[in-house]
Amino acid sequence: MFRVFIIILFHLPSFLFSQETYHQDVVPIIKKHCLSCHSDGEIGPMPLTNYIEVSSYANMIKYVTSIKLMPPFKADHYKVNYKNKRAISNAEISVINNWISNGMQEGIPDTISYDPNNKEVIYDEIICMEESFEHYGIYYDQYQAFVLPVLNQEDKYVSHIEVIPGNKEIVRSANLSLAKKGRADKMDEWDPRYGFFAYGSIGFEAEIPNWYSWMPNTKGIELKNNEVSLIPKNSELILHLHYGPYGETQNDSTCVGIIYSSEQGKIQVQNVPFIATEFLADSFNLEAGLKKRFTSSFYIPEDSYIKSITPLAHLLCRSWEVFAVLPDQSTLPLLTIADWDFHWREKYVFNEYLFLPKGTRIVATARYDNTRENPYNPSDPSFLTKKGPHMFDENFLCYFELINSASSPFASIKKPFTVATRRLAELNFNCQKEAEYSVLVHNMTSNSSVVISEKNYAAGQHTIRSSALANTTGRYAISISSDEQLQDIWYFVIK
Ligand code: HEC
Repeated sequence: MFRVFIIILFHLPSFLFSQETYHQDVVPIIKKHCLSCHSDGEIGPMPLTNYIEVSSYANMIKYVTSIKLMPPFKADHYKVNYKNKRAISNAEISVINNWISNGMQEGIPDTISYDPNNKEVIYDEIICMEESFEHYGIYYDQYQAFVLPVLNQEDKYVSHIEVIPGNKEIVRSANLSLAKKGRADKMDEWDPRYGFFAYGSIGFEAEIPNWYSWMPNTKGIELKNNEVSLIPKNSELILHLHYGPYGETQNDSTCVGIIYSSEQGKIQVQNVPFIATEFLADSFNLEAGLKKRFTSSFYIPEDSYIKSITPLAHLLCRSWEVFAVLPDQSTLPLLTIADWDFHWREKYVFNEYLFLPKGTRIVATARYDNTRENPYNPSDPSFLTKKGPHMFDENFLCYFELINSASSPFASIKKPFTVATRRLAELNFNCQKEAEYSVLVHNMTSNSSVVISEKNYAAGQHTIRSSALANTTGRYAISISSDEQLQDIWYFVIK
C-alpha cells in the first residue's frame, strides 16, 4: 500500500502537467540523432550541445525535423531496413514540437557529454595525405582527389578500413578507389594544386572504383567481422574528398587506417558498378528542357547475397528506384530515393545480407530533369548534358556490393580488377587440391553462361586463355566449381 502511494505521489504531477523539458526530453533525441554531426568540430554548421544552442535554433530544428531533412537520410527506410539509416520518429518530432509550443522549458540542468564511442583501433598501416590541402573558405562545396601510395607488392586483403578526417569541420564525405600505380599521374599533373579537382568522380576508370565510402557518422559499418576486401598488388589509393562549404580558409590532411587480414575462412566482398551508362541500349543524352528516365537491368548468375547499394548521379538526377525480380516473379524493393541530392550521396547498407537466388533480375531506374523546374539544375538556360565527371555533366551509375557465396573454397580466382576498359585476355586461378573443375563465364546482361573449361586440374597455379572470356562491353561473372560446389566467383564489368 505504501509503495503504491509513493508511486502515485511521484507520478501524479507529470500526468497532470505533462510538459517536455529540454534536459529530460529533448536532449536524448538530439544526442541520438544530431550530435554526431552537430558538435564542436564536426561537420554540422552549428553545434547543438546545450540549452542555449538548441533553443536558439528551435524553430529551424522544428522545421528541418518535420520535413525529415534532418537527420539527413535520403532513402525510404520504411520499405527497406538499412543498417546505416538515420531516422527520427514521428513521436520524437512531436516531443520537440510540444517542447517548443510549451515555451521551451529547460528542466533540471545537465550537461551533454558526447561520447562517440570511439574505441581505439590499432591499424596495421595509416596512410596520410602527403601535404595539406587548402580549402578556400568561400562557402562552396569543394571536391578534390589525392593519390596515397600503398606499397604492396602482393595482393593483400583488408578487414578494416577507416577514413580519419584531418579537419572534421570540412571533411564531409570520402570515397576511396584502388588504381594501378601511375594511373592517376596525368590527373595529378593537370591540376597545379595538391591532388586534383574531381567533382562527381575521379575522372578515370580505376581498377577497383568506389572501394570504400565514408561519412561522418558511418564509422565502422563498412566491413563486418568476417569480411575482407582485396587490394590488388601495386595499387594506389585514390582518396576523393568532399569538403563542405566553410567561411574561412581551412587546411586538411586526411588519413586512411587499414587493418590487413588473410582471406582464409573470410567472406569476400566486391562492389561492382553493374548499372552504368555503358550498358544502356540508348545513348545517355539529357536534352535541354526535357525530363527523362533511364532503366537498366542485370541478372544474378549464382545464388548470392547483396550487402549494399550505392547510387551515384549528379545534379540533374531527381530520383532512384532499384528493385529485384526474383525467379518466382515476386519483387523485392531495394532502394527508393524520391528526392535525390548530390551532396548526400552515400552507400545504403542492408540491415542483413539479402539473399538473391540465381536468375534474379535487378532493375534500376533514375529520373533526370533538365528543365528549370529542377532546383539543382546548375545551368540556366539548360543545355544538352552527357556522361562526365564534372558539375555540368551527369551520370547513371549504381554499385552493388555482392558477397562471395563460395564456402571454404579450395580453388580461388585472381581478381585484378572490378572495372576494365579492355577485354579480359586470360584468367588465373589457384587450386589447393587436384580435382575436376568447371570454369564458367556468365553474361549478366543476357543471363547466359558458357563453360570455358571442364577438366582435371592439378594443385597449383593455372591460366586459361580463351576467346570466350569477356570480350565486349558488359557485365560478367566468372565462376569456378567442383563437385557442383561453387569454389569462387569474380564479378566485373568491361566498359
Ligand atoms: C550526418 C550528419 C548530420 C546529422 C546526423 C544531422 N545533421 Fe543537421 N546538418 C548537417 C549538415 C552538413 C548541415 C548543413 C546543411 C546541408 O549541407 O544540408 C546541417 C544543417 C542543419 C540545420 C540548418 C538547416 C540548413 O539547411 O541550413 C539544422 C537546423 C540542422 N541541421 C538540425 C539538425 C538536427 C535537429 C539533427 C538531428 C535531428 C541533425 N541536424 C542531424 C549534418 C547533419
